[in-house]
Order: sequence, then structure tokens, then C-alpha cells
Amino acid sequence: MDLLEAIKERHAVRSFTDQRIEGEKASLQEEIEECNRESGLNIQLCLDEPKAFGGMRAHYGKFENCKNYIALIGKTGTDEACGYYGERLVLKAQQLGLNTCWVGMTYSKSKAPCILNKGEKIQIVIALGYGKTAGKPHKSKDMMQLCKIDGEMADWFKKGMEAALLAPTAMNQQKFIITQNGNTVSAKPLPAFFSKFDIGIVKYHFEIGAGIENFEWKED
Ligand SMILES: Cc1cc2nc3c(=O)[nH]c(=O)nc-3n(C[C@H](O)[C@H](O)[C@H](O)COP(=O)(O)O)c2cc1C
Repeated sequence: MDLLEAIKERHAVRSFTDQRIEGEKASLQEEIEECNRESGLNIQLCLDEPKAFGGMRAHYGKFENCKNYIALIGKTGTDEACGYYGERLVLKAQQLGLNTCWVGMTYSKSKAPCILNKGEKIQIVIALGYGKTAGKPHKSKDMMQLCKIDGEMADWFKKGMEAALLAPTAMNQQKFIITQNGNTVSAKPLPAFFSKFDIGIVKYHFEIGAGIENFEWKED
């Protein structure tokens, strides 16, 4: 499964079977280490750790039987990086046959057995496991509501937008705007809870759809 297929097949999954994550552990760990090297984040894999999702109680918030998660750990100001690298891990997990859901609210941060360095905190987590179902596609805003273009829409930009529309966002809010100017693109979060995490996720999807060789990000 390539990354574009993983983007199409990924949906939020909140109910998991009892199957343990064993064979996939090494590949996930390797990808986490690579993400940490590139980003300076301190992402940690927590397996067979049910406490953050209600211990042995089957349900916690909307979650059922969640015993595994990826904790995105970093200093203040790392929201976008957590979104970007976290989504890289989400799509890697999808390729390995696992299901995921980003979780900003409904988990217990203090119960996660993570080792934090000075100044770091758990910014957000990704629930992980074998889903009881594969989830279902989210409703999406129209592409033209989420982008601004200078002249005709280039084919690569359209493909980037299609991938961005499939990105998970908090409460499916899709609070972002992507602007094209020649071969320069900017992606901005609109004011909303978690929209800085969302923008990192959306940027990772856009790069995969558009092809990173076709454009440059305009950074502020
Ligand atoms: C930054 C972020 C935070 C989220 N927090 C939660 C959460 O606390 N609880 C929850 O059940 N889902 C949470 N979600 C999952 C979204 O509700 C879900 O991704 C969205 O509805 C889109 O659906 P999809 O992932 O199936 O495409 C979060 C998603 C993101 C990106």
C-alpha cells in the first residue's frame, strides 16, 4: 500500500480488538526514531498500556478497548511538528494494517508512563490497534472553500488539495486555508482548538498528493 492509498483508506477508529501489536512493533519503532531524529520531538510508543484510556474499563469517552497509543511529546510551540510527524506515523500504521485515531481530549495524560525531559509535555496522542471496523469517510467541505489560487489551478495543486481534504482534523473542523502563488504554497490554520496540530497533518497530506518536487512551502 503506497502513501496515497493509505490516505484514502485511513479513517478514525475508536474501537479495537484484543489482538496485540507484535510483528509491527519494530517497524513502528524505527519510524518513530527517524521522526524524532528529523524533528527533535520525543515521540514514544506505548503498547499494552490501557491506563490512559480508562484501565480495564472497556469504554472511555468514545473509545473502546484502547491499549496502545503513540504519545507526541515536545516543548511548547511544537504543535505543527507533532501534527506533521504524527500523521507520518498514522499513515505508516495504516500501511502496517493498523488503525488509529488522533486524541486531543479524551485520554488521561497523567496515566501515560512516558519519560519527559525538562520543558517537555505530552502534546497529544494517537490511539492505535486493530480496529473492530475500518471506520468510514468523513464529510468534507468543498475544495474551493479551503484554498485560494492565483490563476488556473495546477494539476499538482488539485492533487495536493484532494489529499488535504482527506486529512483528519479535530472534530472534523477543517479550519485551514491553502494558498497557491506560482509554485509557492502556504498553509495557514484558522483560529480554532487544535488547528495548529491540524495544519501539520494537512501539510503532510498535501505534500504526498502534490509531490514535494512540484512546489515550495512559503514559511512566515
Ligand atoms: C488534532 C486532533 C484532535 C482530535 N481529538 C479527538 C478526541 O479528543 N476525541 C476523539 O474521539 N476524536 C478526536 N479526533 C478525531 C477527529 O474527530 C477525526 O479525525 C475527525 O472527525 C475526522 O474523521 P476521520 O479521522 O475519520 O477522517 C481528533 C483529531 C485531530 C486531528
